[in-house]
Amino acid sequence: MYNQEEDIAARIEEDHKQLRACMEALVAELEGEIAPEKFLQWKLDFLLRLRDFQNQLQKHFDLEEEGGYMQDVMHLAPQYAFRLENLQEDHRKIIADLNHIIATIKGFDHPSPTQVARIRQRIHELLELFKKHEAAENALIQDIYMQDYGRGD
Ligand SMILES: [Fe+2]
Repeated sequence: MYNQEEDIAARIEEDHKQLRACMEALVAELEGEIAPEKFLQWKLDFLLRLRDFQNQLQKHFDLEEEGGYMQDVMHLAPQYAFRLENLQEDHRKIIADLNHIIATIKGFDHPSPTQVARIRQRIHELLELFKKHEAAENALIQDIYMQDYGRGD
């Protein structure tokens, strides 16, 4: 493994850990009840946090797609192109799901425990999708960097 590849793999792994923690915090945040008089402030705060999270996630996907391992897959292991396409598809789906969650929250005009529980469930599902995605990604990274493509070490 080259140093640069180790750096990228380590950076991606670190990002994944942070992003997971962030989603877990968002899910936990939706466990309590929201007092009606605090609803508007809660809604704005939560929306802004989701936006920040989405931006963080998009930057992470950009790193993977533009600077990270995806370029290497195309060069070193084009036979894995379909695995790469699935992963890129996950990226688009995760961002689209978040957009949809944000739009749904924007539509809330009063604190409804049922609606909040649904959002919590959806963020939880997003976390599960992200974990599955991450496992597939790690497997692909292992497959390309741990194999000898004749570049020596
Ligand atoms: Fe990814």
